[in-house]
Amino acid sequence: MRILLGLLTLCLVAASPSLAAEMGSFKYHDFKKPQKCGSCHKEIYQEWKANMMAKAYTHTWDQVEYFKLALPHAMKEPKVAGVKAGCIGCHAPLAFLAGDIPPKPASEGTRANEGVSCEICHNITGTTEKEPFNFSYVIEPGKTKVGPRKDAKPVSHKVTPSEFIKSAEFCATCHDEASPYGAWVKATYREWKASPYAKEGVVCQDCHMYRAPGKAATMGPERADMAHHAFQGSHSPAKLAGAVDIALYANKDKAAPGETVKIRAELFNGKVGHMIPSGSAEERMLWLEVWAIDANGKSWHLPVNKKGFKGEEYTIADPNAYAYFAIGEIMEIKDFKGLKRDGDVPAGARIFRKPFFDPKGRMTVCQWYTANNELVDYRIGPRETKVETYTFKIPAEAKGPITIKANLYYSQVPSSVGKFFDLPEDEYAPILVNSSQITINLD
Ligand code: HEC
Ligand code: HEC
Ligand code: HEC
Ligand code: HEC
Ligand code: HEC
Repeated sequence: MRILLGLLTLCLVAASPSLAAEMGSFKYHDFKKPQKCGSCHKEIYQEWKANMMAKAYTHTWDQVEYFKLALPHAMKEPKVAGVKAGCIGCHAPLAFLAGDIPPKPASEGTRANEGVSCEICHNITGTTEKEPFNFSYVIEPGKTKVGPRKDAKPVSHKVTPSEFIKSAEFCATCHDEASPYGAWVKATYREWKASPYAKEGVVCQDCHMYRAPGKAATMGPERADMAHHAFQGSHSPAKLAGAVDIALYANKDKAAPGETVKIRAELFNGKVGHMIPSGSAEERMLWLEVWAIDANGKSWHLPVNKKGFKGEEYTIADPNAYAYFAIGEIMEIKDFKGLKRDGDVPAGARIFRKPFFDPKGRMTVCQWYTANNELVDYRIGPRETKVETYTFKIPAEAKGPITIKANLYYSQVPSSVGKFFDLPEDEYAPILVNSSQITINLD
């Protein structure tokens, strides 16, 4: 069998020069530093430096998850041993390609810190997969860069125009991921592919690399449709703001204390080309808080009405639910009681999320240790509307008028996990996505 596989590999090598990037197949010095490209590509360099792909290795939560969880786990659990190099294949591709595994922590200032840099994306010539995932890019560093245009006249390097770099499949090489247990733990491309946007030909680049006048290089021409490298996602409050519309209704606008009012919230995802939340779905939460506030400022949080679908309990905030037990196991913490599943989300709020479960069936934020995430997917799909209802019995002591306020929040990581690892607050604090309100007068 070994020999047969060996022969097969040889044949594949001979038949196609395009092989997926392999660990240690290059040296750091095969790749130029981003600052070097930035000396001519000034605007693009500034944009890239400010975005998450430039921080894909150095960002605190990435460092913590790799060094405190994934790496120690890979050393003791054979099934997940591959993530020692695997995480790096997407988060610090330079270190992966140079065989610098595990890379030194970000504080050591190695070239792993460059993250997803110019020299990664602009040397990717293809992929080995039809529907790519798990860093299945083919990369050929050298004097020739890959770019979108046929009429570019570069200085100091060459370019090959490429259709691939303009495609969603290019992004998919890193944005979709299968765990060692075969679960799709990142599926932004697959979500997009099933959406109306794919059919309309609207690709990732159209929403994340918007076109506007600019100079791709200082000595190049002013271009009317320069592809900006903002790559804003959920780490940009400005990108999240208004990503989902909220329309709020009540079945009466006048009521008496003791009477019941029925409230309906309609949430429309008209801007996101995939699920919201997407990407690291294991730890992202989008949730709706509906509050009634009376004229004296007294407030009541309204629990969402249950719908009765399978797995719904994971979509309604429960301050008594604990999860993330694998953290205690990996870190060898005695008597670990788990962390609050829903962080500080108020009891009864609807959470739009997709819970992940480890091989022992417990909810987890460790995507590499995910055996199953198919129980329930209650995120808001592209151009989908979710309708939530609430029943509010006006308290006898309420003083009118009453304001019903709906706030939609997003968080990167449950606050319980963020606080446990002492992350900077802006890596887990709730971000307001949208807000809406109506008034009910009291008889
Ligand atoms: C995550 C991948 C990625 C990274 C990182 C990246 N680029 Fe790009 N770049 C692209 C894509 C994709 C396009 C083409 C977009 C299109 O036209 O659809 C592009 C386009 C360009 C263009 C042509 C712009 C135009 O419209 O004429 C230049 C020049 C460029 N990039 C330089 C850089 C430099 C310099 C860096 C680093 C500071 C960098 N890129 C980092 C993916 C990337
Ligand atoms: C000495 C200046 C200079 C340096 C350094 C430089 N470039 Fe360029 N590059 C240019 C010019 C000029 C263009 C043409 C811009 C245009 O036509 O709009 C260009 C074009 C490009 C394009 C766009 C091709 C297209 O299809 O539009 C890419 C991609 C690119 N460079 C990548 C890089 C990368 C990656 C680096 C760093 C390794 C780099 N460049 C370093 C001057 C430079
Ligand atoms: C129609 C516009 C649109 C298209 C097409 C689109 N996106 Fe997005 N994307 C958004 C918006 C808006 C957000 C911010 C809301 C959010 O975080 O979900 C976002 C967020 C993201 C995030 C952060 C997700 C999270 O929850 O952390 C990633 C990663 C991302 N997009 C990648 C992609 C990739 C890869 C593609 C192509 C396969 C793509 N996007 C296609 C609009 C789009
Ligand atoms: C070589 C791997 C790689 C490629 C190719 C790649 N990305 Fe990423 N991208 C990443 C990684 C890793 C992160 C996560 C950074 C983090 O949060 O640690 C990321 C994050 C993002 C985010 C999230 C930003 C935020 O604010 O949350 C967006 C949006 C995004 N990428 C868009 C794209 C688009 C669009 C393309 C294709 C043009 C693309 N990426 C190609 C690796 C890649
Ligand atoms: C196939 C490529 C790929 C692999 C493999 C991968 N990641 Fe990621 N990772 C990404 C992308 C893309 C994102 C951004 C998704 C988003 O914005 O929601 C991300 C996001 C993250 C985040 C969230 C960052 C934030 O700001 O909230 C952490 C932490 C992380 N990855 C750690 C890891 C660790 C640890 C491993 C190995 C066990 C790993 N990743 C493996 C591509 C990958």
